[in-house]
Amino acid sequence: MNRILIGAQWGDEGKGKIIDVLARKSDIIVRYQGGNNAGHTVKFGKEKFVLHLIPSGILHPGKICVIGNGVVLDPEAFFEEVKVLEKKGVHVRGRLFVSEQAHLLFPYHRVADALREGSIARKEMIGTTKKGIGPCYADKMARIGVRVGDLKHPEYFRERLASVLREKNQILRKIYGHPGFSFASIYRHFMSYRKSLLKFAVDTPTMLYEAARKKKRLLFEGAQGTMLDVDHGTYPFVTSSNATVGGAIAGSGISPTLIDQVIGVVKAYTTRVGEGPFPTQFPDALMKEIQRKGDEFGSTTGRPRRCGWFDAVVARHAVRINGINEMAVMKLDILSGLPNLRIATAYRLNGKLWKTYPSSIYEFSNCRPVYETVPGWKEDLSLVRRWKDFPRAAKRYLERLEELMETPIRIVSVGSKRHQTVFL
Ligand code: IMP
Ligand code: MG
Repeated sequence: MNRILIGAQWGDEGKGKIIDVLARKSDIIVRYQGGNNAGHTVKFGKEKFVLHLIPSGILHPGKICVIGNGVVLDPEAFFEEVKVLEKKGVHVRGRLFVSEQAHLLFPYHRVADALREGSIARKEMIGTTKKGIGPCYADKMARIGVRVGDLKHPEYFRERLASVLREKNQILRKIYGHPGFSFASIYRHFMSYRKSLLKFAVDTPTMLYEAARKKKRLLFEGAQGTMLDVDHGTYPFVTSSNATVGGAIAGSGISPTLIDQVIGVVKAYTTRVGEGPFPTQFPDALMKEIQRKGDEFGSTTGRPRRCGWFDAVVARHAVRINGINEMAVMKLDILSGLPNLRIATAYRLNGKLWKTYPSSIYEFSNCRPVYETVPGWKEDLSLVRRWKDFPRAAKRYLERLEELMETPIRIVSVGSKRHQTVFL
């Protein structure tokens, strides 16, 4: 059984917890897009910590983890994570592999990310994580990227970096008035990582192909979410990779005919961190309350996440784009105590009803949600473990989401702990 796990909103749906559940039923866990902009909060014993780059499956002893070709890899962030994991006694070596085709993220990417965000008009700001993700992907597409495998050949790496850096420095100096980077220091810095990084580097598409032939179970761990996808999300307020199902294929080299199942993850409400339109955003007081109850602060940047009502148009869009077979609904417990709940079932735009996501950002910014109001519940859900123990209103809420998403809900999460999970 090979599965792809997809965020069906704007990221932070709680994928880390579901990966934790699914990793037990998998042999190999693969990251395929994004970089250390992601943040998967995982529990390890009593401790909670955040993995940004390394697949969360690493916490399961014996499982193989892969960073695919679609990921952008900042060696500093990578080795920092390796160090933290090893300090906690997690064996990483021999279990973690990095694609030779993954693009390296350089300090000039990080600087360009921050400079651009700092120099544009407020309304154009994306609110990136400033990790350099966008500039690194831009270079990949512009064919001026440098890949992990290039480090195998120091002479080639040297020439390549020198020519790319000349161009980068021109841009940094002439557009942003930044002094630029010295070739010698970047070269030295990356050469210092060379040996240790190459120990992780392999031909991952071949590795995955052979594993699939041997009937190893693969789990593809998505980062961010459908609405942050560079094609299918709220462009330009998106990340720079395909966070939808196609990203898993292109970003790992696996064939789509080898995929058996696509699992979507949604929160029982909606959150978004960073800029961009968000039609179902709560009024301020309710937003503060849910931020506090749901601990809605970015795991990578610490920024408060904007919160709002469940948006069924968004979830349905994700279902259709990704072919989601099953849904996991997270954080249902956070909604306890609200007298009524609202669900956006459609949008109103220029007097017309829209049941699908209007892909132009101009239109999406002007959409007003059409709400359906359903009764809330008072009961604490954190102890619920079976469907029959949910209060009636919670069951009705879930059934309604299922109908609107046109997809069965198989997992409901009622707390951050592993056992606070209801399987349907
Ligand atoms: P970037 O990925 O750093 O370029 O940021 C682009 C947008 O994606 C910003 O709105 C970020 O807040 C958002 N973003 C990036 N990674 C994540 C994530 O893992 N969870 C939620 N939002 C994210
Ligand atoms: Mg996150």
